[in-house]
Amino acid sequence: MDVNEKINDIEKQVDCEVGKAESSKGLFEIKMRFLGKTGEISSLMKNMRDVPPEQRPTLGKILNALRQRVEAKFDEIELKLKERELKKKYEDEKIDVTLPAKNLPCGAYHPNTLIRNQLISVFAGMGFEIFEGPEIENDYYNFTALNTPKDHPARDMQDTFYISDDLLLRTQTSAGQIRVMENKKPPIKILSPGKVYRSDDDATHSPMFSQMEGLVVDKGITLCDLKGMLDEFARKIFGDGVKTRLRPSYFPFTEPSVEVDVSCFECGGKGCRLCKGTGWIEILGAGMVNRRVLEGCAIDPDEYTGFAFGMGIERIAMLKYGINNMKLLFEGDTRFLKQFKD
Ligand code: DAH
Repeated sequence: MDVNEKINDIEKQVDCEVGKAESSKGLFEIKMRFLGKTGEISSLMKNMRDVPPEQRPTLGKILNALRQRVEAKFDEIELKLKERELKKKYEDEKIDVTLPAKNLPCGAYHPNTLIRNQLISVFAGMGFEIFEGPEIENDYYNFTALNTPKDHPARDMQDTFYISDDLLLRTQTSAGQIRVMENKKPPIKILSPGKVYRSDDDATHSPMFSQMEGLVVDKGITLCDLKGMLDEFARKIFGDGVKTRLRPSYFPFTEPSVEVDVSCFECGGKGCRLCKGTGWIEILGAGMVNRRVLEGCAIDPDEYTGFAFGMGIERIAMLKYGINNMKLLFEGDTRFLKQFKD
């Protein structure tokens, strides 16, 4: 076969073979058969050695031209195949952004958490810092330092879970007051949320519940400061127009002690089922920190005074959201829980 025939033959073969390629990878294999080191065109070029020297330049040109044409052919087909492959890839990976998203089930905050967060936000706005004390407490912090020594009748107000003679599950977040005052000199302005435990169980009591304690100690703090702060708290938590009133009470660690009521946010004070016809709802206990408590923490009661308050979070949640049984707050039934969005 003479060279021209051979060249024609190769070009025909190339035309025929490239048409069979279904992918750029397949095309590459075919390309190697013609243009690879041992490919047909390369072997033709190697044969140049056997050609008389004077014919070599002409033949060299012809073969180079062939090589370029074949390369161009492969390039052209490769481009087409790659384009097709890319298009298919885009097609396969296509995301329809107009499809409606999957409806992921979304949880809601527990009413306790909602109230706790609301309280923290209101009091943080007044400059209170958070302090969290331990749930397993010493008798000293839970009672004695709060002016409630061992034989004190006020211990009967709270049925305590004892762990040992000295250790107990705290019955009140008031225990945190002592821990703060022992470690920090006034001015003190802390808020102490947390779980507390009492051997008590009915529709409005649970052996474990949550409290929020507040303590302010500084020079010249009076009951008026407490009242002003409570009014602000009542408006923010229960709504504008809600007022507070103080009734005399007794707690060993405060003197004087008060019970704080808010005007009924359901009936506006006219009297309804929620406020049992009185127009007022009891919300928390408070008072001026007893000077004996301050002394016990090495704070001079002639120089500093303070007020403290403590409230039950479940109680506030029940009142605010109209929940009639405390158990609902502990059962974790999502049908109940998902009703509380804010
Ligand atoms: N610790 C009290 C209780 O659990 C609530 C309380 C009353 C806290 C008066 C106080 C307070 O800080 O001053 O019943």
